[in-house]
Amino acid sequence: MKASIATRIGAVLCPARTTKRTRSLMTHYPSSTRPVPIYDPSITKDSDALWAKLLAEYPGGLVPVQVEPDPNVTGWLTITYDMTRRVMESPEFTRDSRHWGALKAGRIPDDSPTLANCRHRPNALLNDGELHLRYRNSLVNALEANARGDQGRALNQIGLVADRIIDTFCAAGEAELISQYAFHLPTLALCRLVGLNVSEGVQVCTQMARFWEGGPEAAKANEELMNLMAAVVRTRRQKPGGDVASLMIEDGLTDEEVLNQTALLFGSSHAPITHLVGNTLARLLSEFSTERAGLFLQIPETINTILWEDPPYLCVPARWTTDHIELGGYRLPPGELLVVGFGPAHYELLTNSDVDPRTSQVHLGWGAGRHRCPSAGRDLGLALAEVGVARLLRRLPDIKLGEGLDPDQLPRRLSTDVSGLSRLPVSFTPTAPIDKGDPWNLADLSGLTPAASATTPQPKRLGILTRLLRSILPGD
Ligand code: HEM
Repeated sequence: MKASIATRIGAVLCPARTTKRTRSLMTHYPSSTRPVPIYDPSITKDSDALWAKLLAEYPGGLVPVQVEPDPNVTGWLTITYDMTRRVMESPEFTRDSRHWGALKAGRIPDDSPTLANCRHRPNALLNDGELHLRYRNSLVNALEANARGDQGRALNQIGLVADRIIDTFCAAGEAELISQYAFHLPTLALCRLVGLNVSEGVQVCTQMARFWEGGPEAAKANEELMNLMAAVVRTRRQKPGGDVASLMIEDGLTDEEVLNQTALLFGSSHAPITHLVGNTLARLLSEFSTERAGLFLQIPETINTILWEDPPYLCVPARWTTDHIELGGYRLPPGELLVVGFGPAHYELLTNSDVDPRTSQVHLGWGAGRHRCPSAGRDLGLALAEVGVARLLRRLPDIKLGEGLDPDQLPRRLSTDVSGLSRLPVSFTPTAPIDKGDPWNLADLSGLTPAASATTPQPKRLGILTRLLRSILPGD
């Protein structure tokens, strides 16, 4: 099975058979070498086979890649652990896309999806130097102060939020966990961080769902999301609270800067949390399909294993060269795009060392260097995954994968940047909701199968929040 997929991928990629010696220190790859088309998600259907093949072909740890169907949008994928870590840690590379040579030369179309996700904005992630420090410090101080105040609003409420979401489907005896659970859990927790109440949080879930359904409703949903967040910022300026937005206002950020950091919170964490929860649940339900003893003890180690073996961020266009540099056997000019290969880097280290994925903390899932995920973000991400998974398994003790589903063939979303399942159908003995109040009326996203969303036109010009929220659901 593995061999035949590798052969097929080989036929698709068709890299030039340049030897290690002839390839070394080339200014650019020769025109006979086709950059590997990582924009085509089908090439990661068997990602392990792909990484093994690329590691054999490109021993320097750097692969020329085509990032979009447009042949002008190319870059370099890091595929070894050391190369990936270096690119994220070293000041030789910037996170600021204004250094992108092809962009400066006008070769990147304005509606490029890669550009949409990295177009310069006033937030911590997309700046370097003093501005990065100013935004990062303000955001991190606000997250930490929020976690200290009110005994950690968001952290402490995760179990409660999880229960109320489970209440919406527990009586049905079956559910699709990505759209009905894993999507909503981080949305509602993040809404709490910025001080939105439950009904506002439900509104955000609903608007996000409408956005992802595409069509004319999507543009309206985008506008409503933006208005909602902008209104939050305006209200907090007049009437501050202990939420993250208020604390950044108090720290001196302008309304636009607060809006951008708030959007960054959603944009950088919603998709990875959704898929960390989804991938962990899938792994546990597959490995403990009949024998449930010890299941709860396995949750933290399974989450760690997923961060290693099936990380939510797979390959992310996220750094640019700032000067001439020799890298991976190539001589790169300034302004080249580097795609950070979390997936291949982990595969390479796990294959070539005795790192134990259940316990080792040296994975790159949280990033590395100055843009590394802040510890408050990591704590919240892990807490959401641990509590979210544990609460579901406790409430629905006989939960199992949907009838006829092969654990090795669960439907995955088509993407090379954020990796996860598109659907996770399960069944269980129906139980009554535990909250006696009205059930939350959460948006049902279950119609969004990859096929449905792939054929649904998406709006081209997205607002700032939704541009950052892209890639949450399948088919983008
Ligand atoms: C499973 C959950 C999460 C994963 C896998 C994750 C992963 C990452 C990674 C890989 C980066 C570095 C990106 C780069 O260097 O280009 C990052 C940055 C960041 N993350 Fe997270 N994250 C998660 C959850 C969160 C949460 C819950 C928050 C906040 C509430 C958060 C806030 C941030 C921020 C603000 C940055 C930018 C930091 C900077 O540029 O200085 N993340 N995250």
